[in-house]
Amino acid sequence: ASSIDQRFTIVGATPEQQAAIDTLAKQFLLSDERLGEIIKEFRRRMEEGLATDGKVLKMIPSYVTRRPLGTETGSYFAIDLGGTNLRVLKVTLDGHGGVTTEHQKFPLTEEAKNRTLFDFVAQCVDTFLDERDLRPSGQQPAISMGLTFSYPVQQTSINSGTLVQWTKGLNVPGCVGRDVVRLLQDALLRLGLRVKIVALVNDTVGTLLSAAYSDPAAQMGIIFGTGTNAAYYENVTNIAKWKGPNPSSGEMVLNMEWGAFDSDDFAFLPFTPHDIKLDRKSINPRKQAYEKMISGMYLGEIARNVILWLVDQRMLLDGRSSEVLNAMWSIDTSYLSAAVTDTSPDLSETRQVIEKTMDICNSTHVDRQIFKAIAILVGERSARLSAVGVVATLTKRADLMNKPITVGIDGSMYENYPSFDTILSETASHFIPQSQFRNIKFTLAKDGSGVGAAITAMLAATDDE
Ligand code: GLC
Repeated sequence: ASSIDQRFTIVGATPEQQAAIDTLAKQFLLSDERLGEIIKEFRRRMEEGLATDGKVLKMIPSYVTRRPLGTETGSYFAIDLGGTNLRVLKVTLDGHGGVTTEHQKFPLTEEAKNRTLFDFVAQCVDTFLDERDLRPSGQQPAISMGLTFSYPVQQTSINSGTLVQWTKGLNVPGCVGRDVVRLLQDALLRLGLRVKIVALVNDTVGTLLSAAYSDPAAQMGIIFGTGTNAAYYENVTNIAKWKGPNPSSGEMVLNMEWGAFDSDDFAFLPFTPHDIKLDRKSINPRKQAYEKMISGMYLGEIARNVILWLVDQRMLLDGRSSEVLNAMWSIDTSYLSAAVTDTSPDLSETRQVIEKTMDICNSTHVDRQIFKAIAILVGERSARLSAVGVVATLTKRADLMNKPITVGIDGSMYENYPSFDTILSETASHFIPQSQFRNIKFTLAKDGSGVGAAITAMLAATDDE
């Protein structure tokens, strides 16, 4: 059997099976040429978003115009609302670019995700403060906190902004168009908690600021996690739509909301029928197209669609499915990681995933090779597409080229998905001249989103503008 790439040659496959895998490889493997076209379009969309509100790349001004120096000290509180967990943190800045954090993690309940979000958050803040004896009594001043909110918010000031839409798994009615700080502040009030939200940041903005505390070269913050998005420092003169005052620093952090790229016309990203199926059945159809090909929430589901496509043609698992495999979202991205790194001769890790986790009573070596091939294809496409946004953004700041640039990255895909980080930087290196690429440092900004909110709270407290 012939195939595009040795990794997708399935030993012992029938010609039909091999042909199906070859088709998948053609759909999922992206040439540099193809990526180059997508980068060009991405750049065009960035410009469009800088010029006008409401475009597909929202390029939202964050009202963060300063950088931490790294010499600031003190303890600051933050709430970090992500796609999967809520964390409450106390962050202590050591004055030398280092931080220590004390935090408590609360997995978001289904009820919180669909109904009671802000009361749930207030409750967790209360628990955190109560367990540490920090809850202010009547006479004491309210505790200031930064809030990281990892959903698209049109900021109206450093501590207010209206929700544009829910993304990822959240779907709480009555929030779109309303000020999320207000909603949380009201919930805190209902509990009688004396907490004041002094800063509101997107998680990418938080990640950037946390990287900036330890590294003055930090220019960009990215999340590759449940969702994906990025923020970067832009010269205010380049933000044509900005009508506010010119900050003395001359720059402003923009929340790009890049997960939405190509959602308006589905014209540039490499959509397969498996992606379209996922999109149609998601809670946000025709939204977040780029995010749906890249982030951890979706990769397992894309793979599930591919698996069922093969099963239904009797090319995989002898045409058998299971209740688990039939259920939407049942394939966790970690199952793909397990297969990608499985180098045992009989693919025993992959067997474990298929037979135990997916509850299929029996798998052949061909089945396991196919499963692994699907995992590689879906993961590699994600990492290579991730480079599109990175390259488009870094090359936009032509004035920074040849200077050191640090990109802070957080999120489960970047941290845990096998080879994601190396494929991402390797791919990016094909589109940036070597002399410039040498100056770019990608670093893991672990827990950056929460730390960044605390840093923004600190900046807000010392704001002199
Ligand atoms: C989604 C959200 C965005 C967030 C990203 C990463 O794309 O819309 O605000 O930054 O997920 O968590």
